[in-house]
Amino acid sequence: MTALYRTLIAVLFAGLMVVGLAAAQTETPPTTPEPEPTELVPACDDPVRLSGQVAELYLTLFDLRERLEAGETAALGDLYAVAQHYEAFALECGYLPENAESLVMNTTDVDRILDVLETLSGDPLRGQLLYDGQEPTAAGDTLGCSGCHTPGIVAPMTEGTWTRWDEVHRLEERFADYDFTRYAVESIVLPWDYFVEGYPEYTMPDFYAEQLSYQDLADLIIYLESQDQLP
Ligand code: HEC
Repeated sequence: MTALYRTLIAVLFAGLMVVGLAAAQTETPPTTPEPEPTELVPACDDPVRLSGQVAELYLTLFDLRERLEAGETAALGDLYAVAQHYEAFALECGYLPENAESLVMNTTDVDRILDVLETLSGDPLRGQLLYDGQEPTAAGDTLGCSGCHTPGIVAPMTEGTWTRWDEVHRLEERFADYDFTRYAVESIVLPWDYFVEGYPEYTMPDFYAEQLSYQDLADLIIYLESQDQLP
């Protein structure tokens, strides 16, 4: 009985994979080369394609048993890599695990970031240490925010950030529906979407979404929010 079930499940699973793979392939024009699994962008809005991508990754482990039996340790590396892809797929498609605050955001979807920030509380003291490069981010990077922002020559002064928001930017038409948090998130993860007048454009690094965890960002923002004195 058990053997029969196992066979049935195996057949079902294989069938699902074929369907998924076929769906994934019909979407790819024949002229484009098949992407390496590492370059896969998950088709989050298309369950059929997404499961095809999942199956494709699974298939890269088709000879896992033989490789393990042959003592090939690289096989475990491939197993690990596939697991990382699955994790990245789930995260990119919107899954938030319990340790979300320590995850590097890896997204510039401002609404999604704001949803997560709502569940966290920021620590202004840690924010200041991060901003000044005196404490590493969750991922171990040192930030150089104050290098540009403290002299106030290259970039707007840190001091008065909140007041400038309240007295200047908030009144601009494009920020009509914004609050300070949204403005700050956008300024940090999408700095090239808007340039503060009077400062060089395309100067602020645009990679912070790939460097900061949600908690890092929450701490930085609450710190900036405390900068309410005009110099
Ligand atoms: C290489 C220089 C540089 C670095 C490093 C830098 N910035 Fe900036 N930043 C700028 C410049 C220039 C502007 C103004 C032009 C613009 O809007 O992009 C700016 C604008 C901003 C604004 C909008 C300011 C306002 O008063 O409205 C915020 C908020 C900000 N940066 C936060 C940060 C944070 C947080 C970090 C570190 C994680 C950081 N910046 C790192 C150069 C930098």
